[in-house]
Amino acid sequence: MAATPWLLLLCPSLAAGGVLQARAQPDSNGFISIDCGTQGKEGYVDTATKLLYYPDTGFTDGAGTCRNISADYITSSLCKCLYTVRSFASGVRNCYTLRSLVPGLKYLIRAKFMYGNYDGLQRPPIFDLHIGVNYWQTVNITKPDAEKSVEAIVVVPDDFVQVCLINTGAGTPFISLLELRPLKKTMYPQVTAAQGLHLSDRINFGRIDENTDVIRYPDDPHDRIWTHLVEPTDISMTRKVIPDSLFEVPTVVMQTAMRARIVSGGLGLSWDPEPQPKNPSPGYITIMHFSELHVLPFNAIREFHINLNGVSWYPNNVLPKYLSGTAIYNSFPSLKSHYNISIMPTARSTQPPIINAIEIYTVITTTNLGTDSVDGTFYSDA
Ligand SMILES: *[C@@H]1O[C@H](CO)[C@@H](O)[C@H](O)[C@H]1NC(C)=O
Ligand SMILES: *[C@@H]1O[C@H](CO)[C@@H](O)[C@H](O)[C@H]1NC(C)=O
Ligand SMILES: *[C@@H]1O[C@H](CO)[C@@H](O)[C@H](O)[C@H]1NC(C)=O
Repeated sequence: MAATPWLLLLCPSLAAGGVLQARAQPDSNGFISIDCGTQGKEGYVDTATKLLYYPDTGFTDGAGTCRNISADYITSSLCKCLYTVRSFASGVRNCYTLRSLVPGLKYLIRAKFMYGNYDGLQRPPIFDLHIGVNYWQTVNITKPDAEKSVEAIVVVPDDFVQVCLINTGAGTPFISLLELRPLKKTMYPQVTAAQGLHLSDRINFGRIDENTDVIRYPDDPHDRIWTHLVEPTDISMTRKVIPDSLFEVPTVVMQTAMRARIVSGGLGLSWDPEPQPKNPSPGYITIMHFSELHVLPFNAIREFHINLNGVSWYPNNVLPKYLSGTAIYNSFPSLKSHYNISIMPTARSTQPPIINAIEIYTVITTTNLGTDSVDGTFYSDA
């Protein structure tokens, strides 16, 4: 449904701009996929996603330098998209501008960084990332072969958005990959003009196919990346699971779940907050996804409640619906020094608790996303 306005928007731009200009435009999905630092003008098809990735010329105003990572770090399993970087040795703030967006729509923005000793200095940098003028995340590269992925979901108030690398005096900022994917306005209700979500974890419990590394596009039409957590008690099936409307979790993710070992057992998940230098006590949003995968015998019931740090987190008991996704989430960020979620069966439950997937985010401020950094004037849609 969201594809219709995109197509209308795209065609005039293509006609007016010609081939070169078209590279700086979203594709027919509304996706922008940029392999930073590659030389030449030609894009290529990524083997995993079959999406077209383009060089970053035309997104950066010519700033920065194209560099190759050291051959020492190129392995057969390394994505081609990480072979090159663009580094920004001069200027405190260097930005990528992503254009032809739909004002007011929600977008997923993902940046990836692999240092790979591209400068021969064996000194991975630390620098800040901004979306527009808003602090997003500090990128702290600790090892040359570390692949660091940073992802956010934000409302873009204008027809463009800037992703900026900020030199904080701890090494030269660089970037390997930049991706933008449109969502729907109705999705992720926690995301507003003033608040974005920064991804901490997105886990698919269980795994259908041994050879599948992660689940993303085309299984997930929004190209979210779902990692796996595999447990011996996993359950799965192959029928379609109707997604819930707010998060549209793909059926392949919902078709597998983790199950408690015994009927009276619980499922637990715990984590510590990750403070950011400029966001020292981040608030957390947790979204849990449930669907019943088995036809339960007559009189059988799978029902559980969810606690956070031993206190009820969701007021109602959860009874997953057969082949239909339900999402349970908090709307306002929680601030704890430790997070310990437990999913416990109710007294009348005859089946152990399950969970199909979870997403964990911290909140980021996006109040000034529409601010144009070039001329310094402030404006907003309000
Ligand atoms: C990067 O590698 C490619 C292919 O191996 C080569 O053609 C190009 O000149 C290299 N670029 C730099 C900046 O060294
Ligand atoms: C970067 O990571 C290292 C290793 O985890 C840590 O010791 C250091 O404090 C971090 N620096 C910043 C600025 O986050
Ligand atoms: C989480 O809570 C459960 C039960 O409330 C407890 O047994 C477990 O030790 C806790 N785990 C962590 C890591 O805090």
